[in-house]
Amino acid sequence: KTIKLNIDKTSNFVSKDVLDSYEKRANDANSLLHEGIGLGNDFLGWLHLPSSISEAEIEELEATAKTLRDNCEVVVVIGIGGSYLGAKAVIDALSCSFDAMQATRKNPLIVYAGHNICEDYLFELQSFLKNKKFGIISISKSGTTTEPALAFRLLREQLEAQQGKASAQQLIVAVTDKARGALRTLATQEGYKTFVIEDSVGGRYSVLTPVGLLPIAVAGFSIRDLIAGAMHFENLCGPEIPFDQNPAALYAAVRNALYQSGKKTEILVNFHPKLHYFNEWWKQLYGESEGKENKGIFPAAVDFTTDLHSMGQWIQQGERTIFETVVSVQQSNHEVRVPSDEANLDGLNYLAGKRVDEVNKMAELGTMIAHVDGGVPNLKLELPELKELYLGQMIYFFEKACGISGYILGINPFDQPGVEDYKKNMFALLEKPGYEEATKAIKAKL
Ligand code: PA5
Repeated sequence: KTIKLNIDKTSNFVSKDVLDSYEKRANDANSLLHEGIGLGNDFLGWLHLPSSISEAEIEELEATAKTLRDNCEVVVVIGIGGSYLGAKAVIDALSCSFDAMQATRKNPLIVYAGHNICEDYLFELQSFLKNKKFGIISISKSGTTTEPALAFRLLREQLEAQQGKASAQQLIVAVTDKARGALRTLATQEGYKTFVIEDSVGGRYSVLTPVGLLPIAVAGFSIRDLIAGAMHFENLCGPEIPFDQNPAALYAAVRNALYQSGKKTEILVNFHPKLHYFNEWWKQLYGESEGKENKGIFPAAVDFTTDLHSMGQWIQQGERTIFETVVSVQQSNHEVRVPSDEANLDGLNYLAGKRVDEVNKMAELGTMIAHVDGGVPNLKLELPELKELYLGQMIYFFEKACGISGYILGINPFDQPGVEDYKKNMFALLEKPGYEEATKAIKAKL
């Protein structure tokens, strides 16, 4: 079984001729990625990540995960953007929805920090961790990002105070650049266990490196299956695969064709609340990769049927500049049937005996028909089940399609120059040493 892309419900919006005209562009973009001669070609390490991970690397990750699992009730994953979203997307997709509330657990609870600068969040996290056996995975490719650095300073101090310095040292793992950055300096100085993020893999393409794999293994999930799934799609999305059988090339082509026809916003949709953070991971991947040079599809996301009762109105009847990509989980992991009720006061007996997922699937089908009728093109990505294997397939599929799509658009999908602007202003406002001139300039604007 594999994930499957269905573009049938875009045919009223993208003619066969138009799609054909994108075939060569998508294939060329795919070849450009593999020849390594396109824009941002020093960031192509993710292309062959799944197939290049060695058994020794997997064993080292599993062994480190075991140490944290054996010694911690809670593990805090510190990171922002590409340094936490992939792990959270996979862990949330595979975990019980009420995991955090379970009294007895066989895996450490994974919580996150360093993805905001909220004082209340950090206060509440520190209170929660008080007197708990916790560990830290501190992730920053550059090793200098303010949000995770700040959280790490606070939590490291707390861990040392609670456990003593020597034992805290055993419970901290750093994932960072091999030589550069403050996190590397700190890890070397303090003797933390470390994993390297290769220079050639950008943050948002790094879920299949220790950035994603270590937290996922600590949470108790199979990184081997995740990698196997990704590897399958590494093979299925190569430049030698014909366009009509290459899901990444097809997806990239259709979304660019829709964009050129005026569909400026893509909404990633799920009908499964555990995929909420997968949406977030996808938004970062496409938003940071494509939104530049005053171009790019705006990546939005909704959770249905929840958001059908809020954003559903806009999607059905608002400005016709949107299209949807629905991630559809084919089979639930559990079975719940609607009971029959003699009094039938709620009028639901027509559903008695049906599985809840059947109701959800009819909501999905009904929504698709309504939205297509309402002028919203619909792509569908079928996921057989919420399992590591299929999540791995989906991760590689979206990464590959993003690289192809960015090249079709004519931008560098692997940099993020715009992210620096807020940082410069923040440092100037905080009077960081070295920013004296910028401080004067920004204060004059206030
Ligand atoms: O995709 C990216 O490169 C970014 O989103 C980064 O992942 C994010 O800014 C965090 O950077 P770092 O890992 O260097 O702390």
